[in-house]
Amino acid sequence: MPRLLITGASGTLGRNVVRMAQRQGWDVCGTYHTAPPPLPGQWHRLDVGDRDAVLALVRLTQPAAIIHTAYMYRGAAMWATNADGAAFVALAAAEAGARLVHISSDAVFDGTSNPYTETARPSPITHYGAAKAAAETAVSAIAPQAAIVRTSLIISREPLDPQTRLVLDLATGRRAGHLFTDQYRCPIGADDLAEAALELAANDFAGVINVAGADALTRYDLGSLIAGAYQLDPAKLAGASVATLSTPAVVDVRLDSSLARSLLKTPLRGIRQWLGAEA
Ligand SMILES: NC(=O)c1ccc[n+]([C@@H]2O[C@H](COP(=O)([O-])OP(=O)(O)OC[C@H]3O[C@@H](n4cnc5c(N)ncnc54)[C@H](OP(=O)(O)O)[C@@H]3O)[C@@H](O)[C@H]2O)c1
Repeated sequence: MPRLLITGASGTLGRNVVRMAQRQGWDVCGTYHTAPPPLPGQWHRLDVGDRDAVLALVRLTQPAAIIHTAYMYRGAAMWATNADGAAFVALAAAEAGARLVHISSDAVFDGTSNPYTETARPSPITHYGAAKAAAETAVSAIAPQAAIVRTSLIISREPLDPQTRLVLDLATGRRAGHLFTDQYRCPIGADDLAEAALELAANDFAGVINVAGADALTRYDLGSLIAGAYQLDPAKLAGASVATLSTPAVVDVRLDSSLARSLLKTPLRGIRQWLGAEA
C-alpha cells in the first residue's frame, strides 16, 4: 500500500486516522509536536511552523498522500502553526507530488448564514477562525488539487476528545462549569471523519468539502447525550448562554454535508446515532 503521512498523528483525529489507515493497510508514518502517539508506527517530531523542517520531512518520507490534521487552538504559535504550517505542508505536498487532504473547520464562519455549503466564503470572527481561513486560502493557491475538509466538533472515544472529557468532568462533579444552550454545531465521530479523510486521500476530489455529522445540536444537548452514553446523569449538567462570554464566539454554525454524502461511501452518522442514543 502507498505511504501516508499524517501530521498531528498524536492528536484526537490524528490517532483515529492512524488506527484506521493501518487497518486499511496504508504504510503509515506521522508527526507529533510534544509526545508521540501511544501506537506502533514511525513517528517524527515536527513543528509545522518550521518551513525547512516540513520540506525536509516530506522529502525524507516521500508519502503518496498527506492528511494534515496538526493544529493549535490558541497560544502564541497559533497563527504560525495553523496558517503558515498549512502553507508549508501544501508546499511540501506540491513539491513531492503527494495527494493532500487538509483539515479545516466550521470556525471559518461567523454563523449568520446557516446552513453553510461548500460555496460559502469564510467570514471568521475569531483569531483561530481567521488562521484556519488563511490556511484554506494558502492550500487552495499552492495545491489546487487538494481536498479541503471543513468539519465540526470532533467526538472521539479513544483518545477522549476535550468536549467529552469536559462533560464527564462536569457530570461527575470533578469540575464546575456549564455548557452553552444556544451554541449549535454538527458534531462528528472521529472515526467517521478519519474514514472520510482516508477515502479523500485515495480519490481525486479537489476543493472544499464539508464533512460533518447529520445532527445539529447545542453543546448542552450534545453534553446530555454524551453523559447518557457514559451512564452519567445529564441532570448534573448546567446550561448557560453564549452571551455570558466576554470574547467573540460563533453561536450557530451548521455545515451542509450533502456533497460528501453523495460523493463518499463513508457513512457520516449523526452524533445521536454515533453515540448509540438512537434506536
Ligand atoms: N477538535 C475539534 O472539535 C475540531 C473542530 C473543527 C475542526 N477541527 C480541526 O481538526 C483538526 C484536528 O483537530 P484535533 O482535535 O484532532 O486536534 P488535537 O487533538 O488538538 O491535536 C493537534 C495535533 O497537532 C499537533 N501539533 C500542535 N502544534 C503543532 C505544531 N506547531 N507543529 C506540528 N504539530 C503540532 C499536536 O501534537 P502534540 O499533541 O504532540 O503536541 C497534535 O498531534 C485540526 O485541523 C482542527 O482545526 C477540530
